[in-house]
Amino acid sequence: MKNILTLTGMLALALGPVSSAMATDYVGSEKCFECHADQFNDWQASGHPWKLRKMEKARYAKLPLPPGYSWDDISYVIGGANKKARYIDKKGYIITSAKDGKEAKTQYNIQDGSWSFYHKGEKKPYKCGPCHMTAYNPEGNQDGMEGMIGTWAEDGIGCEECHGPGAAHISEPVKTTIKIDRSVESCGKCHQRGGMGPEPLASSGFIQHHEQINELKAGVHKDLTCLECHSPHKRAILAKNNCAECHEEEAATYAKNIHGLQGTRCVECHMPKASKSAISVASYIGDVRTHIFKINTDPKAEMFKTVEEKGKKSTFAQGYVTLEYACLSCHASRDKNWAAGKAKGFHRNN
Ligand code: HEC
Ligand code: HEC
Ligand code: HEC
Ligand code: HEC
Ligand code: HEC
Ligand code: HEC
Ligand code: HEC
Ligand code: HEC
Repeated sequence: MKNILTLTGMLALALGPVSSAMATDYVGSEKCFECHADQFNDWQASGHPWKLRKMEKARYAKLPLPPGYSWDDISYVIGGANKKARYIDKKGYIITSAKDGKEAKTQYNIQDGSWSFYHKGEKKPYKCGPCHMTAYNPEGNQDGMEGMIGTWAEDGIGCEECHGPGAAHISEPVKTTIKIDRSVESCGKCHQRGGMGPEPLASSGFIQHHEQINELKAGVHKDLTCLECHSPHKRAILAKNNCAECHEEEAATYAKNIHGLQGTRCVECHMPKASKSAISVASYIGDVRTHIFKINTDPKAEMFKTVEEKGKKSTFAQGYVTLEYACLSCHASRDKNWAAGKAKGFHRNN
């Protein structure tokens, strides 16, 4: 069982970014640094630790604020490391209008500096656990703020969210006192929407974001784990560049293809940005790479299907990427029939 204790000022200072109330068995990521500096430094450069930040830390990240607000009105920032930032007020609610209550866009998009509406004018509690923090407990309110639903040991995805509580390991630092979970589900429990099944939900022409396990299960790599291609501590752009290890033949012919000669990576066609978190750049370009991988070269193939169940319509991506996303994202002046002619037998004919 986790006991809650209030830390002394001194301990809180030493631990840095942890909340004032935490489970005793959780020691905070900072504690792991002295013995695991490599993992710590990789993790710090990734999005995981920055998922939820106290104002005191976030204000140095050079993020702009929604209309009328100053940093004194903000308690936490959600994200702001990769795609987008949302802001939490002093009562723990996500900001959905201007400071004076007028309608305003309150989600900041990093890629192009634009703003989007986020649940315009609604009263929106921060109810985003358990995916953005460490050791989430749905009971209570973090920092005693009414809008913060639940409590947790550390803001963001700390070492102990994946490795379990570290107190025993700190007092006896050997392999057997700490856990490692290499399963696809250990990542998929957050990188999912509506469960971990092979039905990636879509809307407005894009797969929705944080559905990596749904996409993986729907596509051709359904038996691979995330760790086959990712180090759990590193940024996505540092994914292992390992397509050729399992697809030697395609990689060999590709090296002589016009795209290969130009340095276009496998992921540009096989993992196009068919998913969207913050913005779409064009009709077929979102901002998150899909994990479906297979390209359907039939010009009549549809990327999405809509099903109606008990009067409710839902749209899902199918188990392949269509040519608009794989080819027309770059070849915008062409059409699907052109792409189909060139795409069929791509690695054999080109
Ligand atoms: C005082 C040094 C020290 C601290 C602090 C420390 N560790 Fe370790 N850790 C070790 C040692 C020693 C090993 C065993 C290495 C070996 O046998 O190869 C280890 C092993 C591990 C392993 C690998 C286990 C395995 O099965 O291979 C993980 C994961 C780990 N530590 C995570 C953490 C986390 C998370 C923290 C912070 C909560 C932490 N460590 C803090 C010294 C430390
Ligand atoms: C089921 C787990 C889950 C839930 C619930 C969830 N998120 Fe996320 N969120 C993620 C994952 C995983 C990512 C990153 C992967 C991606 O976007 O494809 C993410 C990304 C984000 C980002 C972008 C971060 C950045 O640095 O660019 C923001 C902002 C965000 N979420 C806000 C929210 C808010 C606000 C809520 C609650 C209303 C919420 N999320 C609920 C899992 C979740
Ligand atoms: C998103 C989940 C996740 C987070 C966060 C995370 N780890 Fe890990 N860690 C893993 C997994 C999974 C492995 C096993 C990797 C493998 O075998 O390929 C691992 C492996 C390790 C190992 C064994 C050596 C190695 O690199 O494979 C150490 C030590 C370790 N982690 C320490 C840490 C520390 C310290 C932190 C925080 C700074 C941390 N981890 C954060 C999931 C995570
Ligand atoms: C507790 C929820 C949670 C777990 C467990 C989790 N993630 Fe994440 N992951 C997130 C969220 C939220 C983000 C978005 C962080 C951001 O960008 O601000 C993210 C981002 C990422 C990114 C992009 C990071 C970057 O900066 O480029 C990768 C890659 C990733 N996760 C892989 C993994 C893998 C692999 C595992 C399992 C070993 C895992 N995640 C486990 C919630 C989680
Ligand atoms: C077959 C290899 C492979 C597997 C399996 C895989 N990934 Fe990836 N992933 C990649 C590559 C490659 C990238 C893109 C790197 C780049 O943009 O350069 C990526 C990107 C990502 C991103 C960032 C997407 C974006 O554009 O913002 C996240 C998050 C992520 N992966 C999480 C996961 C999770 C979670 C799993 C397991 C459920 C997983 N991946 C399985 C290869 C893989
Ligand atoms: C660890 C091995 C492994 C890695 C790494 C890997 N794949 Fe695969 N890939 C597979 C397996 C296994 C299949 C399914 C086997 C099959 O259906 O032929 C597959 C299937 C595919 C297919 C569909 C094949 C078909 O018959 O339609 C494509 C496309 C593909 N992979 C692309 C990639 C790309 C791009 C990367 C790198 C980002 C990659 N793979 C990385 C193992 C791997
Ligand atoms: C990341 C961007 C990108 C993607 C995605 C992409 N291409 Fe290309 N393609 C290029 C570039 C750059 C060239 C070289 C243009 C030149 O030199 O004229 C090229 C050249 C070509 C050419 C030869 C020149 C021509 O216009 O006839 C063909 C054919 C082609 N691409 C087909 C495809 C097909 C089919 C797909 C999808 C399966 C695809 N491309 C996806 C960037 C891309
Ligand atoms: C310019 C776009 C493009 C790039 C880049 C690309 N591919 Fe493909 N790839 C395709 C298309 C299109 C197909 C589908 C061919 C078909 O179904 O007839 C395909 C099919 C495949 C298949 C399935 C087997 C087959 O031959 O049909 C594998 C595996 C694969 N690619 C791996 C790779 C790897 C590995 C790389 C990087 C070394 C890569 N691809 C780069 C367009 C691309």
